[in-house]
Amino acid sequence: MGLSPLQSIHMTEKNSIKVVDKIKDMQTLSSNIRKEGRIISFVPTMGALHEGHLSLIRKAKEKGEFLVVSIFVNPTQFGPNEDYKKYTRDLESDLRKIKEIGVDVVFSPDINEIYPDGFETYVEVQELQKPLCGQFRPGHFKGVGTIVLKLFNIVKPDIAIFGEKDYQQLKIIQKMARDLHLEIEVIGLPIIREDDGLALSSRNAYLSKKEREQARALSEALGEIRMRFNQGQNDISDLIHEGREVLNKSLIYDIDYLEIRNGNTLEGKEKAKSGDLVAIAAKIGHTRLIDNIKL
Ligand code: PAF
Repeated sequence: MGLSPLQSIHMTEKNSIKVVDKIKDMQTLSSNIRKEGRIISFVPTMGALHEGHLSLIRKAKEKGEFLVVSIFVNPTQFGPNEDYKKYTRDLESDLRKIKEIGVDVVFSPDINEIYPDGFETYVEVQELQKPLCGQFRPGHFKGVGTIVLKLFNIVKPDIAIFGEKDYQQLKIIQKMARDLHLEIEVIGLPIIREDDGLALSSRNAYLSKKEREQARALSEALGEIRMRFNQGQNDISDLIHEGREVLNKSLIYDIDYLEIRNGNTLEGKEKAKSGDLVAIAAKIGHTRLIDNIKL
């Protein structure tokens, strides 16, 4: 009988889930799994898991034969005045949430493991990173592309699953996979929403009660735009004006963008058509939230 792929890999067991924290161990384990011909599915996360993540992890369980989830708050995708320090970190609680799903391994490295002294190589998807969040979070997608490529090289997945809430991120990763000939199927899954329409996000936890009330206006503004489009309006500046009215009624004025763009290329346009992306980023108090829908 051959050795089990888990043998000789250093890992700890927390809440009955195997946790690997060293790159070499994860790479060896993934190589062993691939040698057995098993399909590795992968969900990268920064922890602070919510139902949106769990829906990705459940789908990954269905699609693959060995399921890896990574939990790593990636410093290179946060700007200097963003919430890197206060980002929720609670591995125990995250592991509890995914316990029932049957995750085979959680990869949870520390920062020095991923970014040792002297690290200086980054990945950028030149055009797709420019609009939307790229204008307001310089360097963000460079950090995302870099960490995701690193994680792909460590976990060696066949399938990787991302949420469509970070729509631009998903498009960038799909493009990176194509451009760099990665043999990984990058799948996007729909946004999971609260009953009142608010898109689930780890950052919703920062909202006060009053801000949480206001935050519903983000999805309402997107819904208003889609409704008017379905009624035959297609002039983008008019549609955006209607969406902004909804936000302003809820006293949301700190809007990074509310835009309609081509759903594949993210290029700007003047007339909306089916399949276009309506995307928003706005601050509610100190919390920056994003959301999107397709027309
Ligand atoms: O979407 C996220 O949580 C992060 O951007 C990701 C993909 C895990 C990279 O750090």
